[in-house]
This record gives sequence, structure tokens and C-alpha cells, in this order.
Amino acid sequence: MSLLNDIEPLKQAALADLKAAPDLAALEQAKGNWIGAHGKFTALMKQLGTLSKEEKPAAGKAINAAKVELEAALVERRAELELAAALPKEPTDFTLPGRRRALGKLHPLTQVTEDIVRSFRKIGFVVADGPEIEDEYHCFDALNTPADHPARDTQDTFYLNVGQASSLSPSEKKLETGKMPVLLLRTHTSSVQIRVMKLQPPPIRIIVPGRVYRRDNADATHNPTFQQIEGLYVDKGVTVGDLKGTVEFVFKELLGEETKIRFRPHYFSYTEPSFEIDFSNALVKKLGKDWLEIAGCGMVHPQVFENVGYDPEIWTGWAFGFGIERIAMIRYGINDIRLFYENDVRFLRQF
Ligand code: DAH
Repeated sequence: MSLLNDIEPLKQAALADLKAAPDLAALEQAKGNWIGAHGKFTALMKQLGTLSKEEKPAAGKAINAAKVELEAALVERRAELELAAALPKEPTDFTLPGRRRALGKLHPLTQVTEDIVRSFRKIGFVVADGPEIEDEYHCFDALNTPADHPARDTQDTFYLNVGQASSLSPSEKKLETGKMPVLLLRTHTSSVQIRVMKLQPPPIRIIVPGRVYRRDNADATHNPTFQQIEGLYVDKGVTVGDLKGTVEFVFKELLGEETKIRFRPHYFSYTEPSFEIDFSNALVKKLGKDWLEIAGCGMVHPQVFENVGYDPEIWTGWAFGFGIERIAMIRYGINDIRLFYENDVRFLRQF
């Protein structure tokens, strides 16, 4: 009878001990003391065998129930202590300054592109877009650039080895005299002139920023892929004066009010007359030069208007194209174009 009476007080003592354990080590210690192989409660269980047949069932049941209770108390206290161990030791000081993440920035080429676009927006231009995988028709033929033109040389252009895919309309295919369109990475953004004019009637006032590709070996001033910006203005009675005024406005915005520009006669197959644009300012003087070539331009060739279905007797226009890297290099005094593509944060952080 005395064993049965011992169970409850022993259980209570064990429970109190487990619940009071201040840390995980103390808890393991308490577990050993009570329900371990040599624990006091285990010892009680061992005495079961000494009881009489009549006493055994009631005592056995009570001991088992108590053991379940002790094990539950152990698991509960262990979870509490583990949680407490995982919490910060010191109270949180909400007055400490936060840890800030460094702010990202736009790439210098994106910044320059956005500046150029902003300038043109002021005078009513909108941004147009076109595919980087282009066909010979849009890149060359429609721009009045004949098949024997050096720009089409497989040595300086990236052709794609897929004859079938085509973005040409049936009439454009006919212009290709039945051949499957030849695809290539666009060599200039001028191809978008054709796409826009084919889609909508004049007047047109667009700029086209975008990536272009050439088979150039990378060096300080060349890279096989770079960015251009194309402009196209079509309306009635457009003159070279409009072209010059626009170019002057934009380059003064981009490169400073004291910037001067000059036009030199040149040849492009899609403009007539054609010019190269040079500019001069303090930055150019610093390079030890008077003028630096910056862009190509001209009055849209009547044949180009014919090719897109505009009547060249009614419509007139100008177009230009220039490299964005070039502008960024001049503006920031960068002497190697490859720096733009290396993603070195020490370089990029400066803009
Ligand atoms: N497409 C020329 C190039 O890549 C640049 C250019 C020159 C564009 C004259 C034009 C233009 O629209 O009229 O070098």
C-alpha cells in the first residue's frame, strides 16, 4: 500500500523539478534524476515486482499514468527552453540606426538614353521600337542599300542561319523576288524607319533608341554590340534647316549650351543630301581636337518614300542616327567603350 501512496508525491516533486529547470542542461539533469535509468521515479517502478498480486494492477496503472505526465512535462519544458535559447540575449534597442541597403542606379548608357529621349520629347518626338533580329529587306533593301553594298558583307554583319522565319508581308516578299528572307542582327536602328512608315501615314516624328550589332572586334572604341538612336521626321515642306535646328537644339541640351555643330557632306544610301555631323565644345578641345564626328543624317531619299508607299512629291523628311556610347564617353570622359559592358560596380558607381 505504501508504494501506491508514494507515487503522487514523487510525481509532484518530479513535475516541479522539470518545470523549474532554468535551462536545457538543467532540464537534462532533472530528467536523469527522475526518469533516467537510475532516477527516483524509475526506482519506484522497479519496486512494482515486490507488490502482492492484489496491489499490482492499481499501482502499475498509477505509475504508468504518472510517467506519461512526466514525459509530457519534459517535452513541454524542453520546447520552452529551446525557444528561449533562440531569442536574442539582449533586449532589442529600437533607437539604433537601421542597416540600409545601398540604392541601385541606372546604367550610364540608360541615363544618357533617357536624357536624349527627354530632349526630343520636348519638341514633340515619340519613342518607336523594332526587332533586333531583322531581315535584309528592312535593314538594307528598303533603305535603298543595294545587294552589293559593303554594309551587307557577311564579314561585317551577323547573319542568322534560319531561312524560314519571316516578319515580311507578302508584298515585301515579292520585292525580294521570291527568295526567302535572310535574317540578321540589325546593323543600325534605321530599319525601324521603314517599319514605322509602313505602319502609319505621315506626319511622323519618332526617335528609336536600341541595340545594334556589327562584326567589330572589341577595342577601346568598338564593340560588337552597341546602342544607337535614330530620328525620323516626315511632313510637308521639311528642309535641311529643320534638321540643323533640331540637331543643334538636342546636342546643346546634351553636351552644353556652348556646343557648336557643323554639317559635312557625306553619303548614305537612304538620305539625299547626306551629312556627317561634327560638334565642338570644351570637352572636344580637352581632347586636343577642334571637331569630333558624332552622327550621320540627311534628307530622306525619295526612293525610301517610294518603298514605304509615301508619295515623294508630297512628303519630305529628315533622318539621323548616332551612337549612344559615343555621347556617354564624351560626356563623362570615358576612354574605353568596354567599361560599359563589364558590370564592374567600381565603374558604375561613379554615375
Ligand atoms: N545608320 C547609320 C549608321 O549606322 C546612321 C545614320 C546615318 C542614320 C544617316 C540615319 C541617317 O538615319 O540619315 O551609321
